[in-house]
Amino acid sequence: RRAKRPAGAPDKSLAKKVTKVGVIGAGLMASQFALLFARRLKVPVLITDVDQARVDAGLARIRDDIATLQGKGRVSPDEANRLTHSISGTTDVADFAGCDWVIEAVFEELTVKQDVFARVEPHLSPEAVLATNTSSLSVEAIGARLAHPERLVGFHFFNPVAVMPLIEVVRTPATDDATLSTAMVVAKSLKKSAVIAKDAPGFVVNRILAKVLGEAMHAVDTGTPFETVDRALDEFGLPMTPFELLDLVGLKVGAHVLDTHHAAFPDRFYDSANLHALAEEGVLLDKDDRGKAKGFDKRALAIVKR
Ligand code: 3HC
Repeated sequence: RRAKRPAGAPDKSLAKKVTKVGVIGAGLMASQFALLFARRLKVPVLITDVDQARVDAGLARIRDDIATLQGKGRVSPDEANRLTHSISGTTDVADFAGCDWVIEAVFEELTVKQDVFARVEPHLSPEAVLATNTSSLSVEAIGARLAHPERLVGFHFFNPVAVMPLIEVVRTPATDDATLSTAMVVAKSLKKSAVIAKDAPGFVVNRILAKVLGEAMHAVDTGTPFETVDRALDEFGLPMTPFELLDLVGLKVGAHVLDTHHAAFPDRFYDSANLHALAEEGVLLDKDDRGKAKGFDKRALAIVKR
């Protein structure tokens, strides 16, 4: 049923070798894929963020994840040790000089993403590839201020990064074959399946998820209780309900994805003022001490009633 080679994949002989990875951003998603790069590519990985506290928090999260992998017997003590030592942090993008694959996962704001690439590009070799993990911004627009936009590709992971098998590789009109080929080979080395997606809002998957989320919020906004929508979609058999997904990816990210789609296609995508209010307050699911959802947060229920 499925084609063996992703449609539009260039010859893999064009791929460049990746010997050192730079990750811009040390948040939840960035720290997950920093670990994945170190584990699967077996190369040094450098993470950076705006201040040392964020870098340290990212490194601490990575160390916790390594300990979990070791606890489950997924990595040996030697491998855990190698991983810990192969991932380091910096607040100085000049340290990215030796990186030949640089991926960003900073705040979903076009100018922020353009700025971080503009700051890092002068330190890189002409061969280095730049990748963005944007969830729904235009990859072409992110590359607008690059000296070499042909080296930029979209490389979109899904949460939880270690578990979800897909990467959407996004080609812009400027992306050259060597860059696209490198992205496909890197995805394979990470043991992920890659598809080549068009540079359009939400690529392939998020535009579908934005529809599901938008309709779930529309049902809530028009009087169906949160709990009913949640239970219906859970019992229907979705791996996660839209509200669980929102909680997983972060309310602000979810609201942003919906916002981007509504702005691009106002007649096709619903944008929920209630979702923005929930994202502002940062409340949705009520969790127990171990982080397991017990139901909807009282404040979230009150926001939607207002
Ligand atoms: N973080 C890290 N690992 C997690 C996790 C999490 N939040 N949730 C589950 N896992 C791990 C578990 O530890 C377990 O690992 P192990 O095999 O090493 O023990 C493995 O996943 C399987 O977990 P479970 O046995 O609990 O399996 P489930 O049946 O509950 O499945 C799931 C978990 C695969 C995450 C499933 O719930 C699922 O497919 N959810 C949908 C996720 C999804 O749609 N993600 C896309 C979000 S959109 C996005 O990220 C795009 C962005 O741009 C917004």
